[in-house]
Amino acid sequence: MVRHALPQERWPSAAVAADARWFSPCSLGAQRVALRRTWVPAMVPWRASDDGFVTQDVLDWYARFARGKPGVLVVEATGIRDVPSGPLLRAGHDRFVPGLTQLADVVREHSGGATRLLVQLIDFLAIRRRPEPSAFFARFLRVDHALRDRVLAATGDAELASASEDRLRAWFTTAPRAAIDRTLDAREREALDFGARERVTDLHLPHVRELPRVLPELFAAAAARVEAAGCDGVELHYAHAYTMASFLSRTNDRDDGYGGSLAGRMRLPLEVHAAVRARVAAGFVVGCRFLGDEVIDGGSRLDDAVAIGVAFARAGMDFLSISKGGKFDDAKQPKVGEAAYPYTGKSGHECMPTVTIDERGPFSRNVPLAAAIRAAVRAEGFATPVVTAGGIATFSQAERVLELGEADFVAAARQSLADPDWFEKVRLGKGDEVRRCKFTNYCEALDQQHKQVTCQLWDRTFDPADAGVAKSPDGRRRLVAPDAPDAS
Ligand SMILES: Cc1cc2nc3c(=O)[nH]c(=O)nc-3n(C[C@H](O)[C@H](O)[C@H](O)COP(=O)(O)O)c2cc1C
Ligand code: SF4
Repeated sequence: MVRHALPQERWPSAAVAADARWFSPCSLGAQRVALRRTWVPAMVPWRASDDGFVTQDVLDWYARFARGKPGVLVVEATGIRDVPSGPLLRAGHDRFVPGLTQLADVVREHSGGATRLLVQLIDFLAIRRRPEPSAFFARFLRVDHALRDRVLAATGDAELASASEDRLRAWFTTAPRAAIDRTLDAREREALDFGARERVTDLHLPHVRELPRVLPELFAAAAARVEAAGCDGVELHYAHAYTMASFLSRTNDRDDGYGGSLAGRMRLPLEVHAAVRARVAAGFVVGCRFLGDEVIDGGSRLDDAVAIGVAFARAGMDFLSISKGGKFDDAKQPKVGEAAYPYTGKSGHECMPTVTIDERGPFSRNVPLAAAIRAAVRAEGFATPVVTAGGIATFSQAERVLELGEADFVAAARQSLADPDWFEKVRLGKGDEVRRCKFTNYCEALDQQHKQVTCQLWDRTFDPADAGVAKSPDGRRRLVAPDAPDAS
């Protein structure tokens, strides 16, 4: 591990920026154009109401990004189902449309119409918090014949193996760890040590088996609501630790035609896309975010991603946004009472790389994935725009990516959080005023704790007596970056 300095930058003059590729337009779908190739990718800020509605804090958060006039702004992962999911945005019912409409209006107003607004649509499976071992053995562990057989094999104690359920549960609470490890199967050990987690391969669970039947309609209906709200399009979330990425994964060995071979693994993502495309107007943008590399043992690598990208382009996706890692498979063990977080572990670090990383450093780290996918897509004759993200912190980085044809849009999540005006500052020749992200992931730690996400560079800069500043519940952090008077 090496600690890297931020890249030195000679920011462009306004005249140079005026000719820059990054600030030039790019088509997005059949009928829409993004005015610039600057892009703010999805970031969950934990500001929705507990029942999934847009709040004033959500409006303020996106208005703040809109004032920086990115070419494209992607709204955080938004649930497609009508089920409680905490303070995450939802689009699973028509009652969510008025809030999303307000959101579209606010972004249009604050960007002066310069920003295309997409909503990232997500489906996810159940994940439980890591239990107290006593609670796990008392309530969650299933006592069945298979478990009794394993107890017998592990202990040789026939009386224990056939004892009452209560006695067996009581034995587990005091048994040495080695005996527990010999007795529980891998999923039970995971449920004990990490919290139980459903997988798309759990075909014994009827709702998991049925996913290919229900998801196309759920995604299509949610996309139609986003369209009704006046947004420009949707980004289908096929990346990281969630349902659709799990279908695409090499680890998906479903035997019902929706797993195994690459064609099988791509089948549901393609069917979801087709259902969404058929439900919305031709000009409505429908693209997706998927992984250029899962960065897990046995997972999909770049060669899978290249083939997936070409298939998605052939299917008519309006853009391909390439991310990396962010999986549950290698997530760190959570504390008791907390859920596993997919941005820990190696794959998580590759998704949101920090300055403390290997020799290559975090800057532009994931660009080669997008470049390889784009090259293959172009070689097949498709013009589908490709989006790259990961450690983009300067104008030179972005401009070089575009100059080399490695991507068509260059996205910045954390740098845009650190300074939502940075695109405008650079464009206007005021790059020296950019508040530069430190890439140490204070914001990510807040996300992990499900706390309102803010940036260490600006969240303490306010007058506590100023009632006009929205603050976290403890009153210690401001929720949006202060406005830069010189940004426009
Ligand atoms: C607080 C936070 C929340 C995020 N939430 C999402 C999300 O909802 N969907 C998603 O695809 N990526 C999410 N990401 C990942 C970013 O979109 C981006 O891919 C990643 O941070 C790497 O880009 P960067 O180096 O420009 O920050 C999140 C990142 C952060 C820091
Ligand atoms: S909290 Fe740190 S990593 Fe996150 S945006 Fe701010 S400076 Fe960057």
